[in-house]
Amino acid sequence: MQKGQQKKKIAPPKGALGVLLPGIGAVATTLMAGTFSVRKGLSLPVGSLTQMGTIRLGKRTERRRPRIKDFVPIAGLDDLVFGGWDIHGKDAYDMALSAGVLRQEHLHPLRNELKSIRPMKAVFDPEYVRRLHGDWIKEGKTKMHLADKLQKDIETFKEKNGCSRLIMVWCGSTEVFVQPREVHADLDRFERGLKESDPAIAPSMIYAYAAIRNGIPFVNGAPNLSENIPALLSLAHQTQCPVAGNDFKTGQTMMKTVIAPALKARLLGLDGWFSTNILGNRDGEVLDDPDSFRTKEVSKLGVLEHILQPDLYPELYGDSYHKVRINYYPPRGDNKEGWDNIDIFGWMGYPMQIKIDFLCRDSILAAPIALDLILLMDLAKRADKYGIQEWLSFYFKSPIVPEGLYPEHDLFIQLSKLKNNLRYLMGEDLITHLGVEYYPNSK
Ligand SMILES: NC(=O)c1ccc[n+]([C@@H]2O[C@H](COP(=O)([O-])OP(=O)(O)OC[C@H]3O[C@@H](n4cnc5c(N)ncnc54)[C@H](O)[C@@H]3O)[C@@H](O)[C@H]2O)c1
Repeated sequence: MQKGQQKKKIAPPKGALGVLLPGIGAVATTLMAGTFSVRKGLSLPVGSLTQMGTIRLGKRTERRRPRIKDFVPIAGLDDLVFGGWDIHGKDAYDMALSAGVLRQEHLHPLRNELKSIRPMKAVFDPEYVRRLHGDWIKEGKTKMHLADKLQKDIETFKEKNGCSRLIMVWCGSTEVFVQPREVHADLDRFERGLKESDPAIAPSMIYAYAAIRNGIPFVNGAPNLSENIPALLSLAHQTQCPVAGNDFKTGQTMMKTVIAPALKARLLGLDGWFSTNILGNRDGEVLDDPDSFRTKEVSKLGVLEHILQPDLYPELYGDSYHKVRINYYPPRGDNKEGWDNIDIFGWMGYPMQIKIDFLCRDSILAAPIALDLILLMDLAKRADKYGIQEWLSFYFKSPIVPEGLYPEHDLFIQLSKLKNNLRYLMGEDLITHLGVEYYPNSK
């Protein structure tokens, strides 16, 4: 155990917390429906660390293990008010029905709440998401004008719903792959680019800019660059705004970041890891475009390299072959099936195999992650934490980190980091698992 610091100053979570979601699709509607369902006592917040998880405090012998939601001052679910944007003007109930994640019998009791949420017109560019066409789209002379219109939406939403605080979570489609360019390099060039409608500025960056400019915490649930460019990261420092991303870590990658650390812990070698998926929701359709898939592929491929550290273990991981495929297969809808074939080797080089067949539900896994991020990012803001929130990397496939630092992908290291950050905020001792305190007579 390491002695904690003094409890940090955290403003109390008073009043309504407005949750602004660009993209009212499968993840966003499942998040809203689940939150309403929990509020009504119709379901449990399964999968949510903040709602169901506990945290150990002090020595194991002290038996202090409060629920996280009772330990840190996070907002209550009753305080959340949802809104957002989409390229379709349908309300959240109709969007949830067409997303096809939740059954009608589960949506029906939440009908009134979902019906009352109608998306605002989106900032959209078909060059960035080629498989979608919408009719609920903002017009603006320049990209800066579009950012100003988003800001107006945000102000109107805040006032109408009497929110004391806001948070934005990108739940929109995966955009095509973009490499950072000059226009992303600093704020001056970025703002000039907005005024000149530079084609390298993606819609998700315009949302991120509108949020961060106003100090509204921004979370990126997709692998798009969005907030992860020097211009917006420096703006986040100027406006003291927390940012977190990228790409919710849900099914196959979550499993990968559990299995790969186990192989490395036992020094088992890896010849190859082949991952393939079938899914048939709209996300799958968007990812069927090779340029959108490329964005996802880069996000999914990074994890093994960082966990296995082939530069440190060339004999075990230097020649590993890693392949990730996503296949759009409409009959499965949101119910993804992900297969992994892992070729490993052990003592004297003898080969072995591991097979994973994960029949998961994409948005059922993503919704509690989005909920936790909303509550923890709001906590970060009230605790005056700003810039990259690496302690929330637990939730992301491709955690953003400052230049020169590699991301931590191992799920359990990420969980320890998250919990230690909560202990640190609350002035509790950090837990190092050293354990000498239980053996006073040993040296
Ligand atoms: N479900 C998961 O497990 C999971 C995991 C990781 C990441 N993600 C990412 O989360 C995002 C949402 O996933 P989903 O399953 O809800 O997809 P979805 O296709 O059901 O929803 C995305 C919504 O975003 C809207 N949209 C697209 N561009 C927009 C824009 N510029 N402004 C406003 N709305 C826009 C679309 O019309 C659609 O309604 C995707 O990028 C996906 O890759 C999902």
